[in-house]
Amino acid sequence: MSLSFEKNKELRHFTTFGISTKSSLYIPFSSIEELSEIIQSNEYLTSKSMVLGGGSNVLFTKDFEGVVLHNQLKGISEVGRGDDYVLIEFGSGEVWHDSVLYAVENGYGGIENLSLIPGSVGAAPMQNIGAYGVELKDVFHSLNALEISTGEIKTFYNEECNFGYRESVFKRELKNQFIIVSVVLRLTTQNHNLNTSYGAINAKLLELGLEPSLSNISRAVIDIRRSKLPDPNDIGNSGSFFKNPVVEVKKFEELQGRFPEIPNYPAPSRKIKLAAGWLIEKAGWKGKRFEDYGVHNNQALVLVNYGNAKGAQVYSLSQDILEDVESKFGIILEREVNII
Ligand code: EPU
Repeated sequence: MSLSFEKNKELRHFTTFGISTKSSLYIPFSSIEELSEIIQSNEYLTSKSMVLGGGSNVLFTKDFEGVVLHNQLKGISEVGRGDDYVLIEFGSGEVWHDSVLYAVENGYGGIENLSLIPGSVGAAPMQNIGAYGVELKDVFHSLNALEISTGEIKTFYNEECNFGYRESVFKRELKNQFIIVSVVLRLTTQNHNLNTSYGAINAKLLELGLEPSLSNISRAVIDIRRSKLPDPNDIGNSGSFFKNPVVEVKKFEELQGRFPEIPNYPAPSRKIKLAAGWLIEKAGWKGKRFEDYGVHNNQALVLVNYGNAKGAQVYSLSQDILEDVESKFGIILEREVNII
C-alpha cells in the first residue's frame, strides 16, 4: 500500500474550536495496519507528529509544522459478557456521543451521564472525561494501544491508567508513546446504577416529568448541556477551557471568609475542589467578547470562537484570565485544553 500524505492541510473543520490552521502534512488512518505503516514511513520518522481524534480538546495557536495523523478507527463489538454486564469494545475513532447512544439504545448502562460530550472515544481515557457525577474510569475496563517505538499493541487495564480528575498516564508518564486504538467499557445489562445525584439531573427529570432510566437520564443530560454549553456547530469551543482547581482547606476557608457563597466540593486527600467557572465569572469575564473571541455567556469556563478567531488570540485571552484570577483569588488555574 502506498501512503498518501496531503500537504498544507486546512484543519479548521477537524476541531470543535473551528479555528483556521494548517498542518504541513496530514494523513487519515482507518485500520491498525495503516497506522503501523504510517509510523514506519519516512515522513513520520522525520517530522514532528500528533494524533487528532474528534478535535474537541485542542487549540492550535499556530500552524503545525509536522504530520497530523487523523484517527478514523471505527467499530463497535461485544467482547465479553457476565450475569449483569457486557464488555463492549469501541474503535478509538468512534464519535463519543454515538457510542453513548449505542449503549443507551441497547439498554447498556454506565455512560448515559456522559451524553453529548464532544470528541472521540480515544480521547475519553486520555483525560478521563467526566460530567454529572460520572467519570470514564467508573466504567472503563481496558484499552488497546499501539506502542510507537515497537509497533506492538499493548493492553492497559483500569488500574494501570492512573486515572485522576481529567488525568491519566497517557497525558503524563506515557505521553506521545502510545496511540490508543480501542477502548473496552464494562456496561451494565441489568441492576443499572443510575446516577442522578448531580442536582440538575433530578430537577430536569422532574421538569420533563420523566422517571429515571438510561434513556431519560441521557435525555436530561442532553437538555442540560444544550442549555448551558455552546454547540460547537454554532459557536466554536472546546468545552471547559480550564480545570476546576483543587485547593487546601486553609485556602478554601480564607476564600469562604471573603465569599460565603463560593461553590465547593470535597476532593481526594481532604482537599476542596472549587468551580473555575465561578471564579472567572466573579472576576468579571463571563460574556466578555473581543472581536471574534470571548468567554461564553452562560458558562464562564468555556472560551469561544464566534467565527474567525485566531488560536493565539484565544490563548492570550486565557492567559489574561489566568493572571486576573490569580491576582484576585490567589489561585493559579490550569488549562484543560491541549495547546499546540
Ligand atoms: N458557575 C458559575 N459561573 C459560571 C459557571 C459555573 O458561577 O460561569 C458555578 C455554578 O453555578 C456551579 C459551579 O460553578 O455552582 C459548577 O458549575 P457546573 O455545574 O456548570 O460545572 P463546572 O464545574 O463548571 C464541570 C466540568 C464540565 C461538566 C460539568 C457537569 C470541569 C473542568 N468541567 O463544569 O465538563 O460538563 O462539570 O458535570 O471539570 C468539560 O470538561 O469540557 C466539561 C464541559
